[in-house]
Amino acid sequence: MHENDHSSTSDSNRQQHRHDHDVLIIGSGAAGLQLALALAEGGIGRVAVLSKTTLEETNTFHAQGGIAVVLDKQDSFEAHVQDTLKAGAGLCDEEVVRFVVENAPAAIERLIGYGAQFTRDAEGNFHLTREGGHTARRVLHAADATGREMECTLLRRAQAMPNIELFEWHMAIDIIRERLPDGGKGRACGAYVLNVQRGVVDLFRARVVVLATGGSSKAYLYTSNPDIATGDGVAMGWRAGCRVGNMEFEQFHPTCLYHPQAKNFLISEAVRGEGGLLKLPNGERFMPKYHEMAELAPRDIVARAIDNEMKRRGLDYVLLDISHKPADFIRSHFPNIHETLLRYGIDMTRQPIPVVPAAHYTCGGVVVDMRARTDVENLYAIGETTYTGLHGANRMASNSLLECLVYADAAARDILARIPGIAPPPALPHWDESQVTDSDEMVVVSHNWDEIRRFMWDYVGIVRTVKRLERARHRIELLQQEIAEYYGNFRVTADLLELRNIAMTAELMIRSAMQRKESRGLHYILDYPEPREEERHPTILTPPHFNAGTRTG
Ligand code: FAD
Ligand code: SIN
Repeated sequence: MHENDHSSTSDSNRQQHRHDHDVLIIGSGAAGLQLALALAEGGIGRVAVLSKTTLEETNTFHAQGGIAVVLDKQDSFEAHVQDTLKAGAGLCDEEVVRFVVENAPAAIERLIGYGAQFTRDAEGNFHLTREGGHTARRVLHAADATGREMECTLLRRAQAMPNIELFEWHMAIDIIRERLPDGGKGRACGAYVLNVQRGVVDLFRARVVVLATGGSSKAYLYTSNPDIATGDGVAMGWRAGCRVGNMEFEQFHPTCLYHPQAKNFLISEAVRGEGGLLKLPNGERFMPKYHEMAELAPRDIVARAIDNEMKRRGLDYVLLDISHKPADFIRSHFPNIHETLLRYGIDMTRQPIPVVPAAHYTCGGVVVDMRARTDVENLYAIGETTYTGLHGANRMASNSLLECLVYADAAARDILARIPGIAPPPALPHWDESQVTDSDEMVVVSHNWDEIRRFMWDYVGIVRTVKRLERARHRIELLQQEIAEYYGNFRVTADLLELRNIAMTAELMIRSAMQRKESRGLHYILDYPEPREEERHPTILTPPHFNAGTRTG
């Protein structure tokens, strides 16, 4: 399938394009690019990769600490498995954990084969750092900008492949499904995609569609994530008929920079891994009284401890101090963090860093099996947008980039084996804009966007109560109605689409949190402060209705 066409709509300036590919991958982070490369190298004729802003602007690019992988002789797969299970607080799928851990070295080897450079020690061996929950040094990294090295390496390689087409500023709206005679969910056969720069909705057809859209942490007011993390894949998957799992487990990273001018800047857990200590403004350490691993306890415990100290003492922030280490050591291990902090007037070699927790990683998402298949035929999902069973109730640091790579490889194997038997997509209608006009009230979008993020922070944050969750559910129901009406009446824009998606994911997060009547891992609720054995199962939500995927308002 190689054709593209340009079909005129009523207004000749608003030409809608049709693109045909074998595989359509929505997302250009580690998951999407690794899959595109595996498919292209496996001989797939035409692969499309979409990014809703620039190709690099991904969570992947901003990743700091590294990728967990067993490379040290002192370490073992079993130790990595056990640490992951422990961090996951009894909710990980052990088979999945073993699958990811055991496939890690091969996935990393491939990345290194593409030219990725990781930090080495004086003897030329990979330098492995430590992060929360890991009982061994097993975090492979490129100084403190591991994600940038991965993203740039994968992107360079993808740009050189003639059978990969990269589309930036192309935002998928919804998955299109062909109805099948069995009356079920149908099969995925493309997506409607907003060409953000032209303001026109294009039609992308493909035999296989893959969601690789990253996480949902922008649903919260304070986050370490870039603006793209609006849960689009979860919302699109849900609307297409996929189950969604464990959305109550939003991970709050304990240490984001607290500074009036800083937006979303993370201070890597590796700073604590290399000896950084958390302190109160009076210089006193507090983590030893919360956990025997102190600053290297799993993230949920550290974030809750900071939250507790801040609330109890009325603090705006706590301090992260590594200034007791030699200045050269700090500068060489954390060049990116050191330089960025200097721009804000903070010299981490001489003074502590003010930090606060912020929403960081969405452990739940679209339910997939170990081949990355979703509930909808020919629709796959990989990376942070998924629920695989790896993270359970709390992701262990640096396991997510790994999950992206291992599941991209798994999806590639399955797609390569299946694609010869998958029929080309049928003829599909262009996006219908005949019933909508340009929005006259963009303030509705920005107001609702701010409101959702604020009440998610206040009511569905680090510490929850049944009452707060009920308030949040009430608010989201009203907003959902308003947004649906707005979506039905006005021409789509990137902001409106993101609002629609963030409202959908917020609703799924609230509903999941209300179902879990216990505290476990990242879900801490004062009404049920302890884990309960009868609640030890994932929260799986099933979509209520079948939606045809074309625009009907
Ligand atoms: P992303 O890398 O987020 O890529 C998502 C892509 O989807 C983007 O291209 C985006 O434009 C596109 N997209 C989204 N919606 C649409 C749409 N509707 N249409 C078209 N395109 C769309 N994990 C670790 O393992 N180790 C770390 O050290 C680490 N550090 C981190 C530091 C920070 C600051 C952050 C924010 C995260 C960190 N993480 C880390 C988590 C990790 O980076 C992410 O989980 C991982 O990169 C997700 O990769 P992904 O490919 O699933 O999605
Ligand atoms: C960090 O560097 O602290 C982030 C690591 C992660 O989120 O896995």
